[in-house]
Amino acid sequence: MAEESNSVVSRRSLLQAGAGLLLATALPPFPAGAASSDGYRIVAEPARARLAGLDQRETDVWTYNGTVPGSLVRLRQGEPARLLVENRLAQETTVHWHGIRLPNAMDGVPGLTQLPIRPGERFVYEFTPLDAGTFWYHPHANSLEQLGRGLAGAVIVEEREAVAVDRDLLWFVTDWRLNEDGGIASGFGNRMEAGMSGRVGNTVTLNGRVSEAETVRAGERVRLRLVNGSLARIMALRFEGHRPVIVAIDGQPCDAHEPERGRILLGPAMRVDVMIDMQADPGRRYGVMDEFYEGLSYQLTQLAYDGRSPLRAHPLDAPLDLSRNPLPEPDLAAAERQDLTIQGGMMSGMMTGTGSMMGGGMMHGTMMGMGGAPSWAINGMSMTGDGHAGMEPAITFQRGRSIILVLRNETAWWHPMHFHGHSLRVLSRNGVAVPHRQWQDTVLMAPKDVVEVAFVADNPGDWMLHCHVIDHQMAGLMTVLRVA
Ligand code: C2O
Ligand code: CU
Ligand code: CU
Repeated sequence: MAEESNSVVSRRSLLQAGAGLLLATALPPFPAGAASSDGYRIVAEPARARLAGLDQRETDVWTYNGTVPGSLVRLRQGEPARLLVENRLAQETTVHWHGIRLPNAMDGVPGLTQLPIRPGERFVYEFTPLDAGTFWYHPHANSLEQLGRGLAGAVIVEEREAVAVDRDLLWFVTDWRLNEDGGIASGFGNRMEAGMSGRVGNTVTLNGRVSEAETVRAGERVRLRLVNGSLARIMALRFEGHRPVIVAIDGQPCDAHEPERGRILLGPAMRVDVMIDMQADPGRRYGVMDEFYEGLSYQLTQLAYDGRSPLRAHPLDAPLDLSRNPLPEPDLAAAERQDLTIQGGMMSGMMTGTGSMMGGGMMHGTMMGMGGAPSWAINGMSMTGDGHAGMEPAITFQRGRSIILVLRNETAWWHPMHFHGHSLRVLSRNGVAVPHRQWQDTVLMAPKDVVEVAFVADNPGDWMLHCHVIDHQMAGLMTVLRVA
């Protein structure tokens, strides 16, 4: 169970290359008062936002500290964090720190790891992030509606040593279903959708507003942190005229590589960090397209080069690889194997190309969920809703054991499967070894996929494993795994 060591050589060369570089960040600023020396104060509260643009109508949203996405939380690797959450909603909530390996009592699952935070009450989350990277936070109570009305924000855990880039950007991408008045459409928990692709909306925002263009400068290297904070929308992003290099997935550094077929797959809750060298000419514009759903591609935004002369003539000469996080390496030869089989949903979907979406009222086939029963199951069991008391673990792992999970998607639908409290090393997909040594906390599974993942069960407690299409979670695609 050796820990992955950081390469001293690459760190040193990176530091040398980084000397004299402009290490500027262009992350959204903190709202006043969110961060102070004794930590963060995060207030869950209703507010209004102009999602479609400043000249457009306001939408009633639920927020962390008044904005969508909520306050950016910046923590440092290995340093204790304190986050006071205050509930000013009219209903119970909790906060889950998605992807962060932390003590079970700080995981934010009501009934399972804590009592829900009632209206008017507070809860203090305290943990020390082990891993640097891109994470996010969201409620785990009435999740479908609370996330769907806007409660979500990014967490950036900074590396101990700065990474050599010109700018560090965050694109928090959210899908909304708005009605004609600009309000958030009601109808959360539609059973038909829950058995299909989930509540996919009609408006996609980047950092809280529909984006026409994002400004870049010729010659710069950007680290771009992509977060998909949507309830159900899967994305496949293509950067016209550019070659982004993936350097981290779900916060965990991987071998730097270009995405397959030039498309960055981003299921709900997933994060991908890319490095992009802006090598085009000043004044040019390039589309950033989301091409996941067959026949429904759209332009998420554009890269708009400003008029300034190039920052440098050639791409920055610094390594792309990030320092590895201290993840325990599973012992594959001695690992315990367990199967998790996903079943249910509409039996015959409308599968075409890379993805499909419910649309047009076309319905055929049968669904487990007809007549009020859950739509989905894992190993024949359906846990529904959010966290609640009395959730018995489906499997118990001995603490310290290496585990291989064989995830089988026997359904006709895509599922971003998420495990709390641990990162999973993705070993193989449909019998083919996964290249580029990658770890994930949210594993996107295509219909009929079989994916093998491995981890060391080193974090004691009861941990949720569920699909992050929240309608699917609510309708039974959830279970609990215990590390004891
Ligand atoms: Cu981001 Cu249990 O989820
Ligand atoms: Cu999580
Ligand atoms: Cu799912």
